[in-house]
Amino acid sequence: MAAGELRLGLIGLGTVGSSVVQLLTQNADAITRKTGRGLRLTAVASRSLHTKPHPDLGAARIGTDPFAIVRDPDVDVVIELIGGIEPARALVLEALTRGKPVVTANKALLALHGEEIFVAAEKAGVPICFEAAVAGGIPIIRTLREGLAADRNRALFGIVNGTCNYILTKMSDEGQEFETVLHAAQAQGLAEADPSFDIDGIDAAHKLTLLSMLAFGVRVPFTAVYTEGIRHVSQSDILFAREFGYAIKLLAIAKDETDGIDVRVHPTMIPLRSLLAEVSGAYNAIFVQGEALGSSLYFGRGAGGMPTAMSVLADVIELARNLVGAHGVRVPALGLFWKDLRVAPLRPIADLQSEYYLRFMAVDRPGVLAKIAGILGEHDISIAAVIQRDRSDGDVTVPLVMRTHLASERKLKAALTLVDDLPIVQGKSVSIRIEENFG
Ligand SMILES: NC(=O)c1ccc[n+]([C@@H]2O[C@H](COP(=O)([O-])OP(=O)(O)OC[C@H]3O[C@@H](n4cnc5c(N)ncnc54)[C@H](OP(=O)(O)O)[C@@H]3O)[C@@H](O)[C@H]2O)c1
Repeated sequence: MAAGELRLGLIGLGTVGSSVVQLLTQNADAITRKTGRGLRLTAVASRSLHTKPHPDLGAARIGTDPFAIVRDPDVDVVIELIGGIEPARALVLEALTRGKPVVTANKALLALHGEEIFVAAEKAGVPICFEAAVAGGIPIIRTLREGLAADRNRALFGIVNGTCNYILTKMSDEGQEFETVLHAAQAQGLAEADPSFDIDGIDAAHKLTLLSMLAFGVRVPFTAVYTEGIRHVSQSDILFAREFGYAIKLLAIAKDETDGIDVRVHPTMIPLRSLLAEVSGAYNAIFVQGEALGSSLYFGRGAGGMPTAMSVLADVIELARNLVGAHGVRVPALGLFWKDLRVAPLRPIADLQSEYYLRFMAVDRPGVLAKIAGILGEHDISIAAVIQRDRSDGDVTVPLVMRTHLASERKLKAALTLVDDLPIVQGKSVSIRIEENFG
């Protein structure tokens, strides 16, 4: 690649792609000063480019075929912002094979096909950058790869899905049920028409796959991430959690423990006094615990056109600075080359030891508490606190809520299966894991 102007090819002109064009135009002079060379958008492809409104694309060549961008001799760097797996995967692989650095915001693609793509990038000696793929505008990728590179990270806790955090915040602040808040969020464009990727925890699990590999230098396949969403969290769980002194958040958790790596996404009760409990609405935050640094927290806008475009262009600026005169992967995408990533045991969720919040809908009859507590006791689960409400007129069942001491997930699941079969218990019990040990 010749020094001088860096020529960019953009694929996808949706929320993020349009903002990239705007920000590049808006801050062109400042970016040139920072990189010492001009950045020029030479080609743009997007499916509905001729039918949907889009920002001014200046003199860029425009079209609808994304492969034309990858194959364009006037494109030095490919920016992939279409999302999804295909054709994004084929486009990224072809760009790398052709020696063109790639900038992408596509966490699904990297979580599911990371090994293939990172290894292809290393083989070609071409960088692939993905700051925008996790937590939008928060520079967490660069922080883990470079800022914290000298530390030994032990744990990471992230609020990395704005939709879930918005829903749980609204439920908590306004006392509304999950479905009501979800429908309102969809009406305002804050949740997708098909929200399952977000509310079932899949999007957070994609991000956690990347974060945990970066944080611990270990290989983490997406399939190893235990994933549970927020559909079953009810208003009463939020109120009881508060009585116990906790907030409920969808947390992406990664821990590097002596006997293996823990990677899981699930609703989690965290102390109300903790900093993460204060992260509200559509904001994201990642809390990292390292041996040398101790605790650090990274907070900001985790989505949206401009914050995400800012991260996309930060990658482009890094490329512009480092690619003058020559190619070459100076900093591997994950901080380590793929062959150097550790292969560590990934602990199944059944091996987890945690404290739990439990809620049963039980018939209000003498002996019910003793019966449930008996089953839990037989499975070595001891109860730290209980809340039992009086029955209101017309209620057949009452909520019986407990907080346990540290217990085995495997034993808890076995006990709950027995409790759920009791005629005095209605519906399925609810269990939420509790995390105490972070700021
Ligand atoms: N939005 C955010 O806040 C955010 C935050 C972080 C990361 N991301 C990631 O950024 C990427 C882009 O997200 P987005 O929100 O900008 O998506 P979007 O608004 O749906 O935009 C995607 C664009 O790509 C175009 N496209 C899709 N498939 C194509 C194909 N095969 N060929 C050519 N063009 C194609 C779409 O065309 P049509 O107009 O015809 O659909 C649309 O213009 C995704 O990987 C997403 O996960 C987004």
